[in-house]
Amino acid sequence: MATSELPGAGTTGAPTTAAGAPARPARVRVHHLQAAKQRGERLTMLTAYDAVTARLFDDAGIDMLLVGDSIGNTMHGYATTLPVTLDELVVAARAVAGAARRAFVVADLPFGSYEGGPEQALASGVRMMKESGVAAVKIEGGQRSVPQIRALTAAGIPVVAHLGYTPQSENLLGGPRVQGRGDAAQRISDDAVAVVEAGAVAVVLEMVPAEVAARVTEVVAVPTIGIGAGPHCDGQVLVWVDMAGMTDWSPRFAKRFGEVGAALTSAARAYADEVRSGAFPGPPHSFEA
Ligand code: KIV
Repeated sequence: MATSELPGAGTTGAPTTAAGAPARPARVRVHHLQAAKQRGERLTMLTAYDAVTARLFDDAGIDMLLVGDSIGNTMHGYATTLPVTLDELVVAARAVAGAARRAFVVADLPFGSYEGGPEQALASGVRMMKESGVAAVKIEGGQRSVPQIRALTAAGIPVVAHLGYTPQSENLLGGPRVQGRGDAAQRISDDAVAVVEAGAVAVVLEMVPAEVAARVTEVVAVPTIGIGAGPHCDGQVLVWVDMAGMTDWSPRFAKRFGEVGAALTSAARAYADEVRSGAFPGPPHSFEA
């Protein structure tokens, strides 16, 4: 059987110490991502915004965790990602980076924290790295973000680029719409080449036609991570609440792999019923004098 390029990949046969205790799994690092692409091994990524889900997804063997600015829509109840601040993301990223033992943790730099130019991007990136302990930052934009990617990379901060539909530009793009159809396909490809030349270690492709994502995946040497970008990317990312079935609505490109929302509602109902009936707390949950 072929061995994986990713440390501790899969959940069976987990390494143990000489004493038989589970060993701390080795971290997924930048060079593992590149090696996985070369080997044709698919990378898995999910968003996470707190320590609880980070640990669950890390234990499940998810390779990369994204502390996305989608925290705005999914957790904070904002209509878009635009109000999310660097302060909010640093706190969430610290929780995720602290809980994940194996996954490569990436944090978004939010809207307004890097568009001002390389100096602003560097200040935001350095703060994120120092205060959260993540392994990389993600910024949106192609050629326009090249100076920022160069500055971050020169400072030793790995950057994941984000192309296609970029939610921080949703007002300009007219909402969540497929990007890169027709003549615009070449621009996505040119943007991908530009961000990789500038130093990006991976490229997220959001809501682009599958053929365009396949072409980008062919032409760049770093992994492409698709979301609504078809099956030909080197990896896939989903927003975890969509993946787990926590919401009434999710985008067409997302798939519900569970009904965790329904399970949570059912647990909360069972708890409320037992409190109301007096069945909980019982003797096992009470202390003696
Ligand atoms: O913030 C986020 O969750 C993202 C993904 C949609 C890739 O950027």
